[in-house]
This record gives sequence, C-alpha cells and structure tokens, in this order.
Amino acid sequence: MTAINTTLRLHDDITLIQQAEPVPGKGFLPVHSYLISGAQPVLIDTGVIREKDAFMAALESVIDPADLAWIILTHPDSDHVGALPELLERAPNARLVLNWISTGKLSAMMPPPMPRVTWVNHDESLAAGDRVLHFVRPPMYDCPSTVAVFDSKTRTLFSSDAFGAFVPVLTTHFADQVAEFALEGMSTFCRANSPWISETQPDRYLATLKSLDSLEPSWVLSGHFPAVSRREAKTLFARAARLPEEGRVPAPTHQALTAMLASLARAA
Ligand SMILES: [Fe+2]
Ligand SMILES: [Fe+2]
Repeated sequence: MTAINTTLRLHDDITLIQQAEPVPGKGFLPVHSYLISGAQPVLIDTGVIREKDAFMAALESVIDPADLAWIILTHPDSDHVGALPELLERAPNARLVLNWISTGKLSAMMPPPMPRVTWVNHDESLAAGDRVLHFVRPPMYDCPSTVAVFDSKTRTLFSSDAFGAFVPVLTTHFADQVAEFALEGMSTFCRANSPWISETQPDRYLATLKSLDSLEPSWVLSGHFPAVSRREAKTLFARAARLPEEGRVPAPTHQALTAMLASLARAA
C-alpha cells in the first residue's frame, strides 16, 4: 500500500479520502472513500483494513467522527470496511447502513452492531437531512450486496467498485489522466473484478448502464477511479458498454508471478 492517505475537497459537500494500492505492471488501484458534508454528514466506505489508522487520521483532519450521522458500507470487502470497528467507537452517533446480504458477510469479520444498523436495499432511499440518497444496483460488482448511491443534492453518483481501474498514475480527476490508458485500465479491472460480465445478457447489462446515465450525474465517483465529470461520464459509460464483448481477463500464470518477483527483487 502506498502510504498516501490524503483528503481533497472535490466540491463544497464532498471530500475524497484517497488511498492506493500499487499493482506491478499496471500502475495503481486507487481506493477512495467519500465524506458528504451537510446537515447529516455521511461517510461512504471506510478504506483499507491495513491502513485503518492512517484512514482515521485523514478522516479526523476534516471532521470529528462524533459528528457523523451515517456510515454507508457499499459492500463489506477488505478495501471498503477498513476502519469500521474504530469508526463505530469514535462515531457513536452514526448509524451503519447495510442490507441483509452485507450484514451477513460483515458478520464473518465483526459482529455488526445491529441496534445501530439501518437496512436500505437497492431501489430504496435514505433521507439524510438536507439530501436524499438513492440506492441503486451498479452495473459491475464483486459482491451481491454492493450498492451505488446517488445524492439528490449534488447529483453525484458514488459507484463503489463499478468503473474502477488500474491507472498508470494517481490523480484525483479523470481529466488529469490519459483517457485511453485509464479507460483501458477500467476494462481490465472491471472484467477481472466482475468476470460474469462476459456471460451476462448484454441488453440487461446495457440497460443498467443506461439507467445510471439517465440520472445525469454531475459527478461519477467510483471507489477505484478518479472523479469523472458529467461531460466525461458519456465517455466512461460508452467504454463500459463494450465490456461484455471483450470477454474475461486471462489470469496471470505462476511464471508471470515468478518473473514479477524477480523484477521486484532486482529493483530492491
Ligand atoms: Fe469489491
Ligand atoms: Fe473495491
């Protein structure tokens, strides 16, 4: 894990907490969590388990966790659930937003604090003070409980693993990437992370993509991709539409692992 745990205010209401995982031969996998400021502050995801202390320090540089009203876990993977136990202690006023499946999966890691849990399913909404958060099913995911969240106030779509990518350089905004490389990295990550895309009915997959596009999000903020503006989202969705026909990503072989380890040893 690269020791970056930076915070960046994307606009008035939304702060990015950025972590990243170096991926040999591919660049980086960004790992993004988001703080939505407002009448009822919302945290979307809680970073990487291994970097939980740094995550807490980054978060506490922008908000007193005691002020958090909601912690939304888009899904309980190790890169989204990171600092959750610490947060639940330091954010005693926050409710934890899960669903039936994510509650079960989280139970294998820690006992969910059930009296503090609110279940919100796909196609349901959460009233969070001065905004309504609409929960929708993302077009790609590696866990069936995964939710994408659309904020009615800023028209921002938080897409969790969907539209994630291996990127050659770390940036906060897609505009600062070489689009071709970043979108190629998205194709690789999303087809590897959601290998069922190549077996799904393309028209059903495309309908899910189209339903996100029809929300006309001002920003698409993935858990693993730089910030994408409305204008750029058209390019993102168009590239994502090609994923089913591109098939599965071949898994690197053991020989590839041996070569990678040798290369890392030489560089050390
Ligand atoms: Fe995931
Ligand atoms: Fe993820």
